[in-house]
Amino acid sequence: MEHEITLVVNGTARRVRVPARRLLSDCLRHDLGLTGTHVGCEHGVCGCCTVLLDGRPVRSCLTFAVTVDGAGITTVEGLAGPDGGLSAVQRAFAECHGLQCGFCTPGFLCTVTALLRENPVPTDDEVTEGISGNLCRCTGYQNIVKAVHRAAELLAEES
Ligand code: FES
Ligand code: FES
Repeated sequence: MEHEITLVVNGTARRVRVPARRLLSDCLRHDLGLTGTHVGCEHGVCGCCTVLLDGRPVRSCLTFAVTVDGAGITTVEGLAGPDGGLSAVQRAFAECHGLQCGFCTPGFLCTVTALLRENPVPTDDEVTEGISGNLCRCTGYQNIVKAVHRAAELLAEES
């Protein structure tokens, strides 16, 4: 049995028919074609699949799409500005080499975007805590931490 639901994805209402068991990650990637959301472990450990649900980071591999009917979802595709320019967080990751293979990056970008909205000037410990739910096998995290601080600076300059 399928359910018709509406997700407001990156500001646009999208109607989609899904089985009750469809994961939000699969719905975004397969039903809506938004493959920027990556899937790694598929059981809530790696954080690759993180998206923003009404502004808060969630693991889309642990979320059934039907449970978020009507909600606002921001994926990595929605982080850039309306003119396509990279967000401050995206620019900071590029500038500070906060990525290598990039597989973990969409999840980090969503997590860090929410983190800096909640805490615009985090300490090192707060950054470490804030990104502790996202795993990266390449960078050793140091440049990611630098990127978070740089993003905080860029956001402060923008405001
Ligand atoms: S794919 Fe969702 S937490 Fe790893
Ligand atoms: S950049 Fe490769 S897993 Fe993080």
